[in-house]
Amino acid sequence: MPMLTDQFGRKITYLRVSVTDRCNLRCRYCMPAAGVPPKRHEDLLTFEEIAAVVAAGASFGITKVRLTGGEPLLRRGAVDLVRLLAAVPGVADLALTTNGLLLARHAAELKAAGLMRVNVSLDTLRADRFAAMTGSDDWRGVMAGIDAALAAGFAPVKLNVVAIRGYNDDEVADFVRFARDKGLHLRFIEFMPVGNSFWEPGKVIPTKEVRALAERAAALVPAQNGNAGDVAELCQMPGSAATVGFISPLSAKFCRRCNRLRLTADGFLKPCLACKNEIDIKVPVRRGLRGDELKRVFFEAMRLKPRAHSMEEGAAESPRCMAEVGG
Ligand code: 5AD
Ligand code: SF4
Repeated sequence: MPMLTDQFGRKITYLRVSVTDRCNLRCRYCMPAAGVPPKRHEDLLTFEEIAAVVAAGASFGITKVRLTGGEPLLRRGAVDLVRLLAAVPGVADLALTTNGLLLARHAAELKAAGLMRVNVSLDTLRADRFAAMTGSDDWRGVMAGIDAALAAGFAPVKLNVVAIRGYNDDEVADFVRFARDKGLHLRFIEFMPVGNSFWEPGKVIPTKEVRALAERAAALVPAQNGNAGDVAELCQMPGSAATVGFISPLSAKFCRRCNRLRLTADGFLKPCLACKNEIDIKVPVRRGLRGDELKRVFFEAMRLKPRAHSMEEGAAESPRCMAEVGG
């Protein structure tokens, strides 16, 4: 079986699949102020086409798949897609990243359909700040989504928090306490300059500083990262199953260990979040190519996977915003 290995010897085992670029939030740091022109439905890969790409990827060594958006649960039939992908041979880990708003409604059926893990993105524990950042007054809906995911038995439920100076730096310790109380696995992410004018260098809070703020709430003990693909520096809190992780795409870039490839909702393989290279896989899939016949497309993506991003020097060169590539 040919494995997906790039020019720099990295083995690619993780595919992030964006299923829609639509979102029911308008996070200022994620969407450009003018919004994203919605894609036409016929430009999106169908579920059968997504499953074909995933199956081909799995035959080349992809073992982990994550559904992202926009907001993936906005795509009609998202649960059916989960069921389809859970049945693909070789997919050992199937996860979802969501803003949580529709999770209360769907958590139990997602679990039954074979979803294994859920990450909820939430950057504030204050309803008024949530409204100011996202344009939605349904902060409670996200809370209900988190509770529903825990009740449905997802383990772990992760909470992704983008640390933004002037927005949530005073909530870092609150998040740690919240995660400890709920048994959530918390991940702080450095704010990246991807496709959006809201980003400014001064809004980035480097991990070192976030960690110091987190330690005001709990003693953090560095922990071994059991999962090779997890790019977070992990810590444990004594007396709690919850973990706190720090993801540092800027201050400690992990490109050398990158194991990811992305599939956009409109059918392009994207070898790096921050780079402009994209490889059309929709046309070959629509021509009917399947399995090994898609090898050339995947290997072209390997050839075009850059050594590293250079976001620390300013904006990413990708013309797509986060809502289009799913972070
Ligand atoms: N920098 C870091 N993380 C981001 N996300 C969205 N935009 C950015 C950014 N500019 C996060 C979302 C979500 C994950 C998919 O990516 O909040 O948790
Ligand atoms: Fe916010 Fe995620 Fe939607 Fe972007 S995709 S606007 S981060 S909820």
